[in-house]
Amino acid sequence: MAAAVAQLAEAGCDTPRLDAELLLADALGIERAQLYTRAVDSDEPPGFADRVRRRASREPVAYITGRRAFRRIDLAVDRRVLIPRPDTETLVEAALDLPQGARVHDVGTGSGAVALALKDERPDLRVSASDASPDAVDVARANAERLGLDVEVNVARGIPAGEYDLVLANLPYVREDEWDGLAPEIRLYEPRGALVSGIDGLDGIRELVASAPAGTRLALEHAPGQAEEVRALLDDARTLRDLSGRERVTLGSAR
Ligand SMILES: C[S@@+](CC[C@H](N)C(=O)[O-])C[C@H]1O[C@@H](n2cnc3c(N)ncnc32)[C@H](O)[C@@H]1O
Repeated sequence: MAAAVAQLAEAGCDTPRLDAELLLADALGIERAQLYTRAVDSDEPPGFADRVRRRASREPVAYITGRRAFRRIDLAVDRRVLIPRPDTETLVEAALDLPQGARVHDVGTGSGAVALALKDERPDLRVSASDASPDAVDVARANAERLGLDVEVNVARGIPAGEYDLVLANLPYVREDEWDGLAPEIRLYEPRGALVSGIDGLDGIRELVASAPAGTRLALEHAPGQAEEVRALLDDARTLRDLSGRERVTLGSAR
């Protein structure tokens, strides 16, 4: 274990001990907390060295273990989809106080994180989801089925035709010139098309807002520095802050 931690620290991983523990637990087929509550053989289990080698190449832990916790659910993830981020919890929160039975659509669902977490916490809502990437739709559908959550997921670019009380979207919003400076975990492993959106990062959001029927209620995740520009695209706009207190999700109506 000590050698694995040293190897990950040497490779530049930010949290080498945590990562090594997660990989050890995964190789043993147990939860990380159980490493402390039950006797674990001091011999390293088969597959641990390979997991550490992958992490030392800066592959994200979530792709190695194939899972990521998001709010109350555990999602299967792989390189076809973005790894859900804690910041995106704010987008789920934007829909939690909708009235009973409201219709919500999640555009750019990726692993299904937002739509599935919402359905899990508000089973009364009618939740659907879509993504332009057929690969992502496969991942999201498999997650919906495994979690037993009734969310229909379809391949579509933009907002599919339908009546929605709220459209949620965590579309790509990274600027093209930011890409080369991103951590290797992102740049070398996550799908670029799930992250980058033109010179100022706002191409996807502008296209979505422009295509939305007038009056459509939208909640859009964005970078903190983009909040003012996103508010300017919408009527009655207001911005929610993420867990770190940064402007992260803007709500408003399409014109
Ligand atoms: C930043 S990822 C977010 C994934 C997921 N919602 C999450 O929060 O983890 C953006 C997703 O939007 C999809 N996407 C990009 N442009 C799109 C568009 N115009 N219409 C639908 N989906 C789009 C990408 O394929 C990708 O899965």
